[in-house]
Amino acid sequence: MNNIRIAPSLLAADFGNLQRDVEMVNSSQADWHHIDVMDGVFVPNISFGMPVIKSIAGNATKPLDVHLMIIDPDRYIKSFASLGANILTVHYEACPHLNRTIQAIKAEGMKAGVALNPHTNIKLLEDSIAEIDLVCVMSVNPGYGGQKFIENTYGKVRALKALINEKKANTLIEIDGGVNADNAKALVEAGADVLVAGSFVFNSQDPMATISHIANIANA
Ligand code: DX5
Ligand code: ZN
Repeated sequence: MNNIRIAPSLLAADFGNLQRDVEMVNSSQADWHHIDVMDGVFVPNISFGMPVIKSIAGNATKPLDVHLMIIDPDRYIKSFASLGANILTVHYEACPHLNRTIQAIKAEGMKAGVALNPHTNIKLLEDSIAEIDLVCVMSVNPGYGGQKFIENTYGKVRALKALINEKKANTLIEIDGGVNADNAKALVEAGADVLVAGSFVFNSQDPMATISHIANIANA
């Protein structure tokens, strides 16, 4: 049995019933709560900010996997640490001093993640992979839930896995965007360790059963 983690993305939750949806994730087979923060600048969309994350954190019982789609994320590292983020992921494309940003995240006691847009080559992480706890491979263009999975992701994940092995790093590979029961197994076979799923979970008839379904496929 593998240990593939499932991280439902609360971006697709019902914000009018946010506590209910966070509690559903608590009781489910999911491993993490995936929290998407968008600033309307790095990505065209705005999601939610600190008060909403505080409320999620107050109800969540599993690790908070916070994905920052914002420019200049260094400004908020301490705020996310005090909100209770366990993993803080920044975008490669938003960080001119990535090494400094990674060190600052770790200094606050969080795991450091780096997300790559679909056009960003994994080779750019050659000199930093040993420092990175998680790479989030974007399998859609960030900004919205419910988009179509980009097929080029498989090759990218295989190349990233080879780089991680070559450098003897302990980095986890997370896939974010368009993940569902049809591509979950192939993603795990390519090297994925964490699957984020938003609309596939929350738009289903029975989100808790859908989480079990994808977790069972991923870990079969
Ligand atoms: C996209 C976000 C994703 C999104 C995934 O910018 O980073 O986490 O919520 O949603 P689905 O699973 O619907 O593609
Ligand atoms: Zn995300």
